[in-house]
Amino acid sequence: MELRRLGSSGMMVSPICLGTMTFGSPVEKDDAIRIVHGAMDSGINFIDTANVYEGYSRFMGSAGGVSEEILGAAIKDRREEVVLATKCGAPNGTGTHDMGLAPKTILRELDRSLQRLQTDYIDLYHVHWPDAQTPLETVLSAMETAYRQGKIRAFGVSNHFAWQLCELLWIADKRNWPKVVASQIPFSLLRRDYQNDLEFCEKHDIGVTPWQALQGGLLTGKYRRGHSAPAGSRMADSSWLAEPGEEIYDKIEATEELAKESGLSMTQYALAWALTQPAMTSLIVGAKSLGQVEEAVKGASATLSDEILQRQDALTPPPPNNAPVFNR
Ligand SMILES: NC(=O)c1ccc[n+]([C@@H]2O[C@H](COP(=O)([O-])OP(=O)(O)OC[C@H]3O[C@@H](n4cnc5c(N)ncnc54)[C@H](OP(=O)(O)O)[C@@H]3O)[C@@H](O)[C@H]2O)c1
Repeated sequence: MELRRLGSSGMMVSPICLGTMTFGSPVEKDDAIRIVHGAMDSGINFIDTANVYEGYSRFMGSAGGVSEEILGAAIKDRREEVVLATKCGAPNGTGTHDMGLAPKTILRELDRSLQRLQTDYIDLYHVHWPDAQTPLETVLSAMETAYRQGKIRAFGVSNHFAWQLCELLWIADKRNWPKVVASQIPFSLLRRDYQNDLEFCEKHDIGVTPWQALQGGLLTGKYRRGHSAPAGSRMADSSWLAEPGEEIYDKIEATEELAKESGLSMTQYALAWALTQPAMTSLIVGAKSLGQVEEAVKGASATLSDEILQRQDALTPPPPNNAPVFNR
């Protein structure tokens, strides 16, 4: 796989990033370590986790940490090969400072992540969700401290809109603090609500690294209208993925036709499509087996014709962009 620039960070990453949200349950430690090594051997150099990930046992406010511990064990002898991303800011306890983005919380969670990941630096440290109680300038002050201490190499945000990225760039410029280099948003051909933010990211050299480019598995072709979810799938085993409605099935089935015409599996097609979008740097795929990793890697090198892309736009259109522009 050809590596892509991770925004203005200077780092180069594979177009597929290994997501580790299922590490702990249902993916147990030994299997998870095999997946990490297999993914690295197949050319993936970018791995995403978070302080709160612990698989299906996760609930709002649970302690987390399991995914980071497993990943730390997996990469401890191959640390330099990995661009390692983790996050803070989602609730992981019931205390006042077990949630949110106060600098005290960010810096404490960073130290805990470093310990679990058995490393002394994070390549890309993310804010998981915006915190309504903490101004972005306060959040950025903690990132600047961590950056200066050498504990993080770059900082990114997740689930932020373009106006929030803009504010972060403005503060960084004013204070001479580190710039946001990456934006982790929910994005797939079925979920395009952040589409109009991509242009901003492209213009300001912010790499987009979306989560759920396979829409949790809906875009793999394994869920069929009128059939029960296959055994061992996310929909069968967890509450993380709900049965889609008729209208979504219409879109999935029509998309599958486009995949067939392109000579690709549905998974390969959904990933190849996402990689054609502006500022798209690396798709975080939550593979649960090595076979799924291999399928994702194939998708990253597939190409789609302009005609297919236009037909996909007609089928699952981007949101309207009503910005007034004078076209000369
Ligand atoms: N920043 C955030 O707020 C946020 C939120 C969520 C996730 N994330 C990150 O994004 C990553 C991906 O999220 P996700 O796992 O929810 O979404 P996803 O990548 O769209 O879905 C992954 C799931 O799809 C199924 N799958 C993958 N490849 C397949 C294949 N070739 N054939 C059949 N099924 C396949 C697997 O589930 P089954 O085999 O179990 O069906 C797998 O667990 C996470 O691991 C995490 O790192 C970030």
